[in-house]
Amino acid sequence: MAFKVVQLGLLSVLVGVAVTGVQVAASGNSFPFSQCESSALKSPYRVKYDGFLIDYDNQDWTCFRMYLDTDAATDCPAKATDTPDCCSPSLAKIEFNAAPSCEGYVTKALMFKGYDDSANGVVEKIFPVGIEVLTPDVSAVIRISKGLNLDQSVLAKYPEGLPFCLNRKPDVCSEAQTYMYEGTAVYQYAIFDASSECCPTGCKSFAPTDYPWRAVFHNVTEGKGGQRVCMKLYVDEAAAATCNNAVGCCTQRLQKVEILANRQCRGSISQFTMTGVTGTKSSFLWHNTFPTLKFTNLNLPYKVGEDGAFLCFSIKGPSCTNLQQLCSEGPRGCEVATFAPPGNSCCPINYMPYV
Ligand SMILES: *[C@@H]1O[C@H](CO)[C@@H](O)[C@H](O)[C@H]1NC(C)=O
Repeated sequence: MAFKVVQLGLLSVLVGVAVTGVQVAASGNSFPFSQCESSALKSPYRVKYDGFLIDYDNQDWTCFRMYLDTDAATDCPAKATDTPDCCSPSLAKIEFNAAPSCEGYVTKALMFKGYDDSANGVVEKIFPVGIEVLTPDVSAVIRISKGLNLDQSVLAKYPEGLPFCLNRKPDVCSEAQTYMYEGTAVYQYAIFDASSECCPTGCKSFAPTDYPWRAVFHNVTEGKGGQRVCMKLYVDEAAAATCNNAVGCCTQRLQKVEILANRQCRGSISQFTMTGVTGTKSSFLWHNTFPTLKFTNLNLPYKVGEDGAFLCFSIKGPSCTNLQQLCSEGPRGCEVATFAPPGNSCCPINYMPYV
């Protein structure tokens, strides 16, 4: 069941996906450690980070989605004379850059294998994977090839992408150590087509130094049976001045905001409004699997962020009537993530003090 829920949660998030990934000149010495064409522009296959799956099958998982960039796929026949040809009709392998010292941290991949209408459920399969050390102390990858070999036509049927997850053994290494967040705070992945000559590479950053958008609570008004809350969404001047543009997020717009939220509050949150932009926004989504309250399709231009915009919503009960209840999941108060548009893959987390 888990995958179905994830799938639904993302349906309305994917707007205008035009992922180019980050171009890395692949050589034998840097990830993906093989001679292959790493420009995401040459291939229609993509991977994006999707979140965590907590306590599923008695363990925690880090989840991603693989999908087909339909624009790039459409261009493919025209590029067929290119060498190498990166439009090969099937997807064969996905790799993540990993720390050799964390061997044993990831042991399984959970793959979505389709829906079974007769059984009214999702078919999923667990395959053993591991951190494969390529050069001791220097380089390692997590390689998913078993259970893949997906035809483009299959991927095309899932425009939101096909989910897959990697388990984590926290006693071995932390997530950050395993995926080598230090410094750049990224997941780095490469996705190979059947020719193995193409390995479009991209990454994902949680680093506040890579994206300057922040959220804070601005005011809270007590009202009939609940509270009216306004958040300020803005580009932090100091963060902008020192922003590291390696991932390409520094001057991006704000696409989405998510608050780690108490699932009891589902049904207690009103539609939201947004000031500082033309038009009123009016919807939000609740993510079923991960307890998050999401405000999506914000599309706030960077310029608007320099002055700041206000996003207001009500906590109207009956099950939740105030912010403290809404944010009770967070061990350190109200946790919020600001998201760059898809493909730029930046989503730093900050804590919002109560006002
Ligand atoms: C809260 O802040 C918003 C945005 O500045 C403003 O429109 C609203 O009037 C404020 N509410 C109160 C009660 O001050």
